[in-house]
Amino acid sequence: MILTTGGAGFIGSNFVLDWCAASDEPVLNLDKLTYAGNLGNLASLRGDPRHVFVQGDIGDAALLGRLLAEHRPRAVLNFAAESHVDRSIHGAEDFIQTNIVGTFHLLESVRAYWSGLPAAEKAAFRFLHVSTDEVYGSLDEGAPPFGETHRYAPNSPYSASKAASDHLVRAWHHTHGLPVLTTNCSNNYGPYHFPEKLIPLCIHNALAGKPLPIYGDGQQRRDWLYVRDHCAAIRRVLEAGRVGEVYNIGGGSEMTNLEVVTRLCDILDALRPRADGKVYREQIRFVADRPGHDRRYAIDAGKLERELGWKPAETFESAIRKTVHWYLDNQEWVKNVTSGAYRDWIGKHYGD
Ligand code: NAD
Ligand code: DAU
Repeated sequence: MILTTGGAGFIGSNFVLDWCAASDEPVLNLDKLTYAGNLGNLASLRGDPRHVFVQGDIGDAALLGRLLAEHRPRAVLNFAAESHVDRSIHGAEDFIQTNIVGTFHLLESVRAYWSGLPAAEKAAFRFLHVSTDEVYGSLDEGAPPFGETHRYAPNSPYSASKAASDHLVRAWHHTHGLPVLTTNCSNNYGPYHFPEKLIPLCIHNALAGKPLPIYGDGQQRRDWLYVRDHCAAIRRVLEAGRVGEVYNIGGGSEMTNLEVVTRLCDILDALRPRADGKVYREQIRFVADRPGHDRRYAIDAGKLERELGWKPAETFESAIRKTVHWYLDNQEWVKNVTSGAYRDWIGKHYGD
């Protein structure tokens, strides 16, 4: 079996669902169930013996030791993290704890387990660390996209904590020989995306008749990738990636935030027109910028394509429509995740 951490979050749950759709190999899924983790994402696997869920922390060495010894996974995939830049600006402690200290404990537990495996299992074992393009910092306009050797220059507490975790993973390979793989991916979107992030927040606010908040001038650029394409890339890297290597993953689909939000508005105008006959673009509001806001990210995913033959199956146009459809069809999911604690966050971050 494989062990995933953070498999009840946005990308992790999409990964677990896609894995179980494509394979009979069981998944042991360890997730702390923070505000961002939701077992409802995995409801379709209820009763399926291939999915074993355990609520717990990647920093809990005793729990990890027991789980690894009992289930003997052939691979560990680390999705678990605090993932929202704005939250890391309000308070970084959870980011340091999970993304850095948690990754350290996970690496140590996995190293102890891996060291004791018989030779063949030891050679086949993989630790795959899921990371982000934000570790490379901000790109100037016109500069070539991030390659795997781009220097690290993280600018937010979130990206600094992810950069630190990438360095730990690298060191556990170079010093201890742990067979690691690291992926650095661009912005994802798709089903089960928590509505604190730009795309699901704007779909949710649009339908609720609320403002669509654009930070600063809205000209910041991101490279958007459909989450299921990201999951396919991770499966491919796990299957055939070279040990110790880093693979950048991106959608080749760079857009400004304003372009993304106006596209969402236009799709909603077509699929769910406003009752008053007006257009959703009228709900766009320019608000105070994010402190330290990175201007541009773009990924060169050429290594992954050349070495492992991966390319995104979706374009932004095809997958953003699927995504909007998913949110329209899953308003109950949105209602469940936007209760209580979510409202506190929105009040704290955006005020009135
Ligand atoms: P998410 O916030 O939606 O989910 C994180 C999951 O990790 C949640 O289920 C949460 O309960 C769990 N978790 C948090 N702390 C934990 C702990 N200490 N122990 C165990 N579980 C814990 O995040 P996401 O967007 O799905 O991101 C997953 C990974 O991918 C992260 O490492 C993130 O840095 C990376 N990433 C995200 C994106 C993106 O666009 N969302 C892009 C590139 C890389
Ligand atoms: O690049 C990969 C990263 O993408 C991941 O590592 C992070 O985990 C993930 O959260 C995401 O980070 P971003 O900060 O790019 O995503 P977010 O959806 O928060 O913001 C996208 C852009 O939209 C960013 O430039 C900030 C802007 N934004 C965001 C929000 C929430 C707004 O203009 N208004 C908003 O209300």
